[in-house]
Amino acid sequence: MPQEEINFLRNVPIFADLEEKDLQKIVKLGTRQKYKKGNLVLLEQESGAALFVIVSGKVKVVRMDEDGREVILSMFRPGEFFGEMSLLDGQARSASVVATVKSELFMIHRRDFLESLHEFPMIAISLLAELAMRLRKADMQIKSLSLKDAAGRVANVLLILADDVGVFRKGKVEIDDLPLQQDIANMAGTSRETVSRMIHFFIDCEEVKIIGNKLIINDYEAFRKKYL
Ligand code: CMP
Repeated sequence: MPQEEINFLRNVPIFADLEEKDLQKIVKLGTRQKYKKGNLVLLEQESGAALFVIVSGKVKVVRMDEDGREVILSMFRPGEFFGEMSLLDGQARSASVVATVKSELFMIHRRDFLESLHEFPMIAISLLAELAMRLRKADMQIKSLSLKDAAGRVANVLLILADDVGVFRKGKVEIDDLPLQQDIANMAGTSRETVSRMIHFFIDCEEVKIIGNKLIINDYEAFRKKYL
């Protein structure tokens, strides 16, 4: 069995507490699959039979709103998992998942995953911690959509992206491959023009910088405190 597979799983937070021999068992349960940029991994409303862990690349979790516009719910990067909701409650997929760049995923079938939760309760505890964190984020999003002005809503989306896919360094956060302004607008429940205006406002206030397709929040804590 390739050591590379085990090393990968050791760096996945939900498996991080397992011993080497247990990681070997998990490796045997899964298969790797490759996706091209833009490929659909899961489709909303389909029945779900597997859990996915990202080996490399990046995915976005999306739902369609009433007007057929895509709303990004979250973005995941290597080491993170998705597809757990259908496995746990037996209902249809709650959202679609799309690879935003060329990606490789580690896939475990439902029955095997549920058995591993019985065998290794530590996985279940880590999974619950991650789900609690996702619920906190969703609460933040609900609060922001119901209460905040345009600046607050757009700032909230930038903070969600920073938490999901940002690289933190010395108080700054860099978000590579910033989603399109229309995607940010759909996430913030506002228009593309408002997003553009707000990003320029943040730039004028020296709170963010744009370099190519990258957005930098100059002081993450200060930005968070001001707008959340
Ligand atoms: P599942 O419903 O099986 O398939 C779609 C997956 O998207 C879901 O499991 C979760 O893993 C993920 N997902 C759905 N909604 C959210 C959300 N609001 N935040 C983060 N991930 C989500």
